[in-house]
Amino acid sequence: MSKTIFITGTSTGLGKLTAIHFANQGWQVAATMRSPEKETALTAYPNIRIFKLDVTDVTQVQQATEAAIAAFGKIDVVVNNAGIGVYGPLEFAADAVIDQQFAVNVHGPINVIRAFLPHFRTNKGGMFINISSFMGVTTAVPTGSLYNMSKFALEGLTEGLYYELKPFNIQLRLIEQGGSNGNNFKENIVWTTHPAITDYDPMVNKVKALMDNADPSLRDDPQVIVDEIYALATGKNQQFRTLIGNMGKNLMAMRNSLPIEEYLEKIAANFN
Ligand SMILES: NC(=O)c1ccc[n+]([C@@H]2O[C@H](COP(=O)([O-])OP(=O)(O)OC[C@H]3O[C@@H](n4cnc5c(N)ncnc54)[C@H](OP(=O)(O)O)[C@@H]3O)[C@@H](O)[C@H]2O)c1
Repeated sequence: MSKTIFITGTSTGLGKLTAIHFANQGWQVAATMRSPEKETALTAYPNIRIFKLDVTDVTQVQQATEAAIAAFGKIDVVVNNAGIGVYGPLEFAADAVIDQQFAVNVHGPINVIRAFLPHFRTNKGGMFINISSFMGVTTAVPTGSLYNMSKFALEGLTEGLYYELKPFNIQLRLIEQGGSNGNNFKENIVWTTHPAITDYDPMVNKVKALMDNADPSLRDDPQVIVDEIYALATGKNQQFRTLIGNMGKNLMAMRNSLPIEEYLEKIAANFN
């Protein structure tokens, strides 16, 4: 019998590619997104069902979870992929924007995990794959503190839950990807700004230039990430954390080889 995967944020980028890959491998796919009425690609697959889901809306999470379980009978793997980036000086971040960063990247996965736990406990098994980032395990740029916060929190949540869910045979996995191609992440970044204060501008401009002109060899082929998600779902990769891409690997090698004070100064020097 084919297995079923439930994925959040499948309207674009990694979520969409993951849905298509699993469908092509014969899995049944519950592809969720905020605006299903706009979807045209995933609708072509007979083994993909689309469900409306904004991960910050607890009622919608409950409804989508119940509808997917009713449609497929059993869900084997849940991928918490939906995410946004809030960048810019913390000093200028409105409370609503801070809350939004946390709501989508942390509280969203919490909502989805909580909705699936009764199903997974009843089934005596299941897997949550949480899409983090190398920004979930290290810092890399100024003005990324809120995004760092959200992914560090997702990492802590996932690691803490490992112990709690192990007795129920519920697995937890983390993907720590770097910048990749074929997504809308950069375009969707919410930048915090101030109409009058320009003190942070040189720093912000350097971060934006870094994002715009990233060395192509440091950007991941999204198919590599999708393949790792597939390897996790099928048990071929049993690592708790899967760090993908040269950007994250280079930074982690540096971080692990230096005292934290030296690491911080080395990163800061790129933006002076
Ligand atoms: N691209 C990178 O550089 C990068 C690097 C490391 C980690 N990541 C992580 O990878 C994951 C996928 O991002 P991506 O690169 O594929 O970027 P993307 O193309 O911007 O995709 C993000 C997805 O999340 C969805 N989303 C946003 N807010 C949502 C909400 N409240 N409820 C449900 N869905 C929501 C978006 O849907 P809408 O179309 O409705 O907005 C979209 O489908 C994210 O968790 C991101 O943090 C990305």
